[in-house]
Formats: sequence, C-alpha cells, structure tokens
Amino acid sequence: AQAPLEASKIQITKTSTPKEKLPNDKLVFGQTFTDHMLEIEWTKEAGWGTPKISPYHNLSLDPSTIVFHYAFELFEGMKAYRDSNDKIRTFRPTKNMIRMNQSAERIALPTFDNEELLKLIDQFLLIDESFVPKGNGYSLYLRPTLIGTTPSLGVGSPDRALLYVIASPVGPYYSSGFKPVALEATDYAVRAWPGGVGNRKLGANYAPCVLPQQKAASKGYAQNLWLFGEEGYITEVGTMNVFFVFKDESGKKELVTAPLDGTILEGVTRDSVLTLAKEKLPSDEWTISERKFTIHEVFDKAAKGQLVEAFGSGTAAVVSPINRIGWNGKDIDVPVADGASGELTKDVAEWIRRIQYGEEEFKDWSRV
Ligand code: COI
Repeated sequence: AQAPLEASKIQITKTSTPKEKLPNDKLVFGQTFTDHMLEIEWTKEAGWGTPKISPYHNLSLDPSTIVFHYAFELFEGMKAYRDSNDKIRTFRPTKNMIRMNQSAERIALPTFDNEELLKLIDQFLLIDESFVPKGNGYSLYLRPTLIGTTPSLGVGSPDRALLYVIASPVGPYYSSGFKPVALEATDYAVRAWPGGVGNRKLGANYAPCVLPQQKAASKGYAQNLWLFGEEGYITEVGTMNVFFVFKDESGKKELVTAPLDGTILEGVTRDSVLTLAKEKLPSDEWTISERKFTIHEVFDKAAKGQLVEAFGSGTAAVVSPINRIGWNGKDIDVPVADGASGELTKDVAEWIRRIQYGEEEFKDWSRV
C-alpha cells in the first residue's frame, strides 16, 4: 500500500557550515537560499517516504529524468514573515497546499495531505528561522516544488517523484515605495486558454511568457497585459492577477478582476484582495466584481475619465501599480494618485501587510 505523507517521520540533519547572512539591503529575490532544504521522495510502490530536512544541496538526477523532457513540474510561492514579537508567520498557507495538490493532480504527480506538508514547512522554518529577515517588506520566500523523477523517456505517469521546499530571504519588491509599471496589452501571444492549464501553477506556464515579456520591454513596457480571444478579454498581467477600478457617472466605483473560468491562476493575493475589499469598502460606494471585461472597455472608460486605477496582485510583489497601457499603437495613462499608486492600491497593500506581519488578526489567515 502507498504510505501517506507523515510529518512525524521527519529526519533532521543540520548543517556544519552555516552560511553568512546578507544584510537586508543586499537581498535579491530568489538568489540566495537558507542553510537547509526539505525533501520527500515518493514512489508508486511505497508512497511517500521519510521527510528529510538536510543541508541545502544539489540534486543528482539521470539525464533521462522525466521532468527534464516533459515538464512534470509544479511549484508554489508563499512567504514567511517575522512579526514584532519575533514569531514567524506564514500567510494563508493552506491555500497554497490546496493549489499545489490541484496542480499535482493535473499532471499525474502524487497528492498529499495539506496539513502534513504544512507541519513539515513549520519545522523547516523553525530550523532556518534566523534567515527570516525583519522589517516591513522583508520576508522569507518559500518555494515548494514537485517534480517527476522517473528516469525514462517514456511519456506516462511518473512512478517516482520528489517534493522539495527551498527558501530565499527577500526584500520589498520596490525598494523605495511603489514603482508603477507600463504594460503592453498582448494579443499575438496567449498565456492560457479554455481547457488548458492556466489555472494550475505549472512551470511550463512560465517559460513561454518570457519572450513576449522581452518584446514588450524592447518597446518600453515592463510587462504584458495578457489578452484572450477576439473580444480582447483581460486575463492577467505578467505573472500576476490583475485588478481595475472604474467609476460610473454617479461616482460609484467598481473593483473588477477576471473570473476563475479555468484560464486564471487562483491567486492567494487575488482572493485576499477580493475578500478584504468586500469587508472594508462601503457597499453603497463600491461594487466588487469577478467578471469578464475587455481591453476595449478599459480604453473606452479611460477616454470618458472613468478609469480610476489598476494594479497587479501576486505573492512576490503583493500589489504592483500600473500607470500606462499600450495597445494597437495607442497608449492610455492609468491614474496614479500620488505619482506612485492609486488610492485603493495603497490601501490594499497596507491591509494585507498588517495581516502578514501579525499587526491585525483576520480570520485564520496568519499561521504562527
Ligand atoms: C507571484 O508571486 O506573483 C509569482 O507568480 C511569482 C513568480 C516568481 C513566479
């Protein structure tokens, strides 16, 4: 029988050569890692093996290993924060576990018990606790990863897999306040499509988006605003979900993002923005919508002075303000109230920050 994932079986080997820690101002996203890593092997015969925390190390894999050929890979992105009492907190980590299992299921990799992996991540965090930086905007980025490790060129469901978690201390995405970005509305390349895997966090979704990003950059735009279909539906921005704020003739505002129709990554930050907006914004002044909307609608509203602000949402940057969108040879300016971000963008960032750093308890979103 296949053994389930069991956190209590953990084996720990500590490093004898601890790394130097970088000062906060030298931290670059995903470039340096903590002293240890967490690993669990899975086989079809035996199920999940002994979870191991050991010194950070290279993997040794046969060149035929299935992950290298057919992209049996998925990952998660989540962060651990140090609060003012030096307690370490993760933000809504169960959401990442649920999504990780959905990704695994989609590409025929093994699934696991959410809470068992979270207990293991907690242990890993306690061991590398000293790498969780202190200060607003600083955190330890966690990268749970699952790969198929069958050494074979046969295309089929992997009979071996490796789940591992590595961790990188990171600083604020924008070192001095918000830096709004310009977007190229992109229709010649498509990020995701109905029946595809755009709603799963598979590595294979990311590589094809780099060339279009470089093309946008060569025209002076930082990121792609991903469109879908002849209608020009707005789906995501770069590697993030995207939100727009419109206002109507009466001054009532609408916060809108694309619905989870299978082409949209179910962002934890996306869900947090929607939940907090419903909780905190007065309902007589605001409508919160998950609905389809198009680039035409955004350009029409901009022309009528009804485009209020726009931002991307994701774990890495939390929110990322947008100040310009280019499409079909035309550019529209997206208002950024104080030159850095719109008002709601700033509020959302602060609402989320307070919960992440334990300054405000909200539901069960912060796990100590
Ligand atoms: C995000 O958090 O916005 C991401 O998707 C992160 C990334 C580095 C893939």
